[in-house]
Amino acid sequence: MKNVAISCSLLFLLFFGQANAQTYAENGMVVSDHVIASQVGVDILKKGGNAIDAAIATAFALEVTHPEAGNIGGGGFIVFLKANGEVTTFDFREKAPLAASPTMFLGENGKIKDNSNHKGLLAVGVPGTVAGLYQAHQKYGKLPWADLVKPSVELAENGFMMSWGLYNAAVNVTDQDPSEDIMINYFKGANGEIVKPGETWKQPALAKTLKEIQKHGRDGFYKGWVAQEIEDYMKAKGGIITKADLEKYEAVERKPLKGTFNGYDIYSMPPPSSGGVALIEMMNLMEEANISEIEFNSTAYVHLVAEAMRRAFADRAKHLGDPDFNPDMPVDRLLSKDFAKMRYENIDLTKASISDPSKFGHPYDGSSTTHFSVVDKEGNAISLTYTLENSYGVKMGSDKLGFIFNNEMGDFNPVPGETTTGGQIGTDPNMIAPEKRMLSSMTPVIVAKDGKPYLVIGSPGGRTIINTVFQTVLNVLAYDMRVDRAIEAMKIHHQWLPDRILYERNLLSPDTRDALIKMGHTLTPTTNIGVLMGITFDASKKLYTGAADSSSEDGGARGY
Ligand code: GLY
Repeated sequence: MKNVAISCSLLFLLFFGQANAQTYAENGMVVSDHVIASQVGVDILKKGGNAIDAAIATAFALEVTHPEAGNIGGGGFIVFLKANGEVTTFDFREKAPLAASPTMFLGENGKIKDNSNHKGLLAVGVPGTVAGLYQAHQKYGKLPWADLVKPSVELAENGFMMSWGLYNAAVNVTDQDPSEDIMINYFKGANGEIVKPGETWKQPALAKTLKEIQKHGRDGFYKGWVAQEIEDYMKAKGGIITKADLEKYEAVERKPLKGTFNGYDIYSMPPPSSGGVALIEMMNLMEEANISEIEFNSTAYVHLVAEAMRRAFADRAKHLGDPDFNPDMPVDRLLSKDFAKMRYENIDLTKASISDPSKFGHPYDGSSTTHFSVVDKEGNAISLTYTLENSYGVKMGSDKLGFIFNNEMGDFNPVPGETTTGGQIGTDPNMIAPEKRMLSSMTPVIVAKDGKPYLVIGSPGGRTIINTVFQTVLNVLAYDMRVDRAIEAMKIHHQWLPDRILYERNLLSPDTRDALIKMGHTLTPTTNIGVLMGITFDASKKLYTGAADSSSEDGGARGY
């Protein structure tokens, strides 16, 4: 065994914080939002599992250790680069329930009623995670399903050490709103107090649910007593998801989107994700602009990148939604190099354009999503992003089941026809309909060189995901940054509407900000954009290098 990871003891890291550095491995690696989940994945690789097996085990472990976004009550996407160079994807995005309708969140005044598209059980989409993981396993897994769920059953049953990061989140979320029932008890131990940092946090109800999934696979969630309890809970608390919704839910294997940038192949998720389309659109435009000739972080760089973002997000608003409901989306055109050329020519390099809602962008999608990246010794790679939408989703769930439901219905366009300067989008492609998947910004990416993984990356962050991943890919491919630096480097975000550039405070010079304002941009500081988890592969050294974003409280890379 060749473990060349730079590491301290796991216990030290969890208790005192994460050392942020690169981690190296020759055989396989997992980088996730929780080091215990990363280790679970690596243990599966060591037992002879492939990247798919490790990803499944990591995904279940994040449900236990990173419940803010790790989930069985939400949905997500997998991009899978096989060792033979072929690429596929799995779409396990949540769906609108059968009883959903385009105006279900509106009051008599035609406005969103009481934030109901994000709050309360009406906001829950039919979960897809267990179906997606199971389908991926059926097709490509090597180890038995039960072996992949087992570590998570044990983690939930025997507990794991509460970290400061999780404890701080537990205190915040428990205090927030007593009506959000599961969260009142969720983090509490037998003494009725929130489990303290350094103490063991056990989740017996979740362990029982996971055992059912371990034993029965997909059916352990979508049929039987778990499905019955989901229906009963929904009925009792004002939700509309039924056993029929659960039984009908199917994950879908989809063809990936492919783009190129200076000789690299970029693979990402097709709709219902908007991430792949926007990413490739923006990379094409950067290639057209010969971006590596423009100094990183300069005024010209921020202007061009922001203008590319503005255009990609306007296209997203106008055209994108669930492909099963929108068969005519112009995806090929948006991804073409000719389109990028035309787009580049209509950018004024001296002045900001204006985002016009009457021409054509939903304000702030939730940020609680999580991404992890996996590689194995055969050269298989997985880029997996999954989500509950907001942090801890709808903050509700049955005490008998022990997991939290998503509030993903908030990713649909909530008010038909109403697109506002604040960023609410009202276009048709992403309008609510029964069994439709809501548009997502999740952007799991694999960049390949000669059929081998070169960069595996992704991030949470609602709509900022697309731009976070875009700039990190650009940092590696155009600016030759090593993965940890590409992750930490200054990021901006522009989403067409509202018409402003969000930038990471303290990472953009005052002179550059002044110059951008003179060009007509509006700038708004924010503390942090993105929580990236990335792996690069150096083919000459046959070495994987992984890094977790320093903004992840408990995240980390593990390899062997
Ligand atoms: N819930 C965030 C996304 O799917 O974009």
